[in-house]
Amino acid sequence: MLFPARRLLAAATLLAGLLGGIAPAAAADPAAADVERGRYLARIANCVACHTSEGGKPFAGGLPIRTAAGTLHSTNITPDAATGIGSYTLAEFDRAVRQGVARDGRRLYPAMPYPSYARMRAEDVAALYAYMRAGVAPVSQRNPEAQMRWPYSMRSLLVVWNALYLSGSPVRTDAAKGAEWNRGAYLVQGVAHCGACHTPRGWLYGEKGLDERSKRFLSGASVEGWSATNLTGDQITGLGAWTRAEIAEFLHTGRNAHATSFGPMSTVISTATQYMTPRDLDAVAAYLKSLPGARGETQPFRHDASTAPRLLQGRYDSPGSRQYSQFCMPCHGADGKGFARVFPPLAGNPTVADPDPASLVNLLLNGAVTARVNTAPTDYHMPGYGWTLDNQELANLLTFIRGNWGNRAAPVSEAAVAVRRRELEATR
Ligand code: HEC
Ligand code: HEC
Ligand code: HEC
Repeated sequence: MLFPARRLLAAATLLAGLLGGIAPAAAADPAAADVERGRYLARIANCVACHTSEGGKPFAGGLPIRTAAGTLHSTNITPDAATGIGSYTLAEFDRAVRQGVARDGRRLYPAMPYPSYARMRAEDVAALYAYMRAGVAPVSQRNPEAQMRWPYSMRSLLVVWNALYLSGSPVRTDAAKGAEWNRGAYLVQGVAHCGACHTPRGWLYGEKGLDERSKRFLSGASVEGWSATNLTGDQITGLGAWTRAEIAEFLHTGRNAHATSFGPMSTVISTATQYMTPRDLDAVAAYLKSLPGARGETQPFRHDASTAPRLLQGRYDSPGSRQYSQFCMPCHGADGKGFARVFPPLAGNPTVADPDPASLVNLLLNGAVTARVNTAPTDYHMPGYGWTLDNQELANLLTFIRGNWGNRAAPVSEAAVAVRRRELEATR
């Protein structure tokens, strides 16, 4: 299903500021401890990003989520009795979060990531419940009606979907792999639902793989016109070249020596993963590092030094090279190595090597902003070139960066840029 990335990012920026100052209080009594644990889990699970509309009150819902089947809205999950979930019992809340059934029996669309939350432990759902009741201010705000096309408008059909795709089984533990790995598996597969974006979906939108036993799990997928990259151990398009500490750094700050975050992942970092404890960040990284490459890329990236002198001497012998030196080189460098943590490298960058160039096309058309995080006071901008350069020029530029400095990804066609430009104009 599709995510309104730009809206989410705007909401995220606002919320990161809003929530940033709240530090978990040292809780003396068990009930307060539960609320604090729930507050943390709600952050990691990123309930707020979807359940808050642009400029709206936290958790009051109303964010439109556009999907191929129509538009639906997140709902009000503040403890308001009339319009929110104030009258939900713990059992009803649990059923909504882990099985996708609302209090009134309404089946929820899997835009609410209950297939991942289904794998959460009951005590964690109870802590979430404690927090949602005690730590969130009630807001009176009615839920907009979903506008889904027939037959998707028939919520009862979701019974069938759930029978096919909802696995009630908890996250598989493996004592031999140690505490970090097991904690990481639980966070990645359950609470933090990384697979909801990074695992490809099949017919009827079911995730093709829920854990490391499937080769498709976290192998890269399309999310609202972006490509959520391969998180398995592949050297070129995955995280094979990233150390455990570098993965943790990326999730904490939205940048590291290899890449910077943008689009939907900047939202995830701004509202959720930047708040993970160092131990949880390390656990997630440890788990990801244990995943063998899904695409069998075992050869490490080798930087090719022959591109830089050609650009510096003005030997523009391939399409896109002149534009690269004119528009991109000031920030990303003649050697494609950028300036780590400020201007990401393009050489050996998994986004640049991604078989699906969707994110690259978006970045060039519209530009991007790095994640808003507490550790970095400034967010850097990548300018958009959609108004300066035509589709063929943008395609040439992308083909150039995908085929130089040692990058070996397929060219990008003019048609691919044209299609995306039209889509973006239609949703503007
Ligand atoms: C990726 C977006 C997304 C995230 C993340 C998300 N939700 Fe939802 N949630 C939705 C949407 C969309 C709906 C409405 C679905 C529908 O109308 O079928 C929903 C519905 C619900 C409902 C049903 C309420 C009602 O009566 O309508 C509850 C409860 C809920 N979410 C709780 C949570 C909690 C708690 C979290 C965090 C643990 C969370 N959600 C995270 C998108 C999300
Ligand atoms: C809302 C969808 C969404 C969710 C949820 C999500 N991601 Fe992402 N992620 C993306 C997209 C889109 C990208 C590509 C943009 C980028 O590289 O910043 C991405 C990029 C990344 C990257 C950078 C990869 C690279 O090669 O540059 C890492 C690492 C990552 N995600 C890890 C995670 C982890 C771990 C989780 C769970 C804690 C997660 N993501 C959850 C959408 C998502
Ligand atoms: C003013 C400096 C600047 C210029 C000029 C610039 N970029 Fe960027 N670029 C950035 C910044 C900053 C980011 C990180 C944005 C983000 O992560 O949201 C970025 C990100 C990217 C990325 C994504 C890599 C990643 O890991 O995040 C690509 C690809 C890219 N730029 C290509 C280009 C191309 C091609 C051009 C020329 C048409 C260009 N850039 C011009 C600053 C610049």
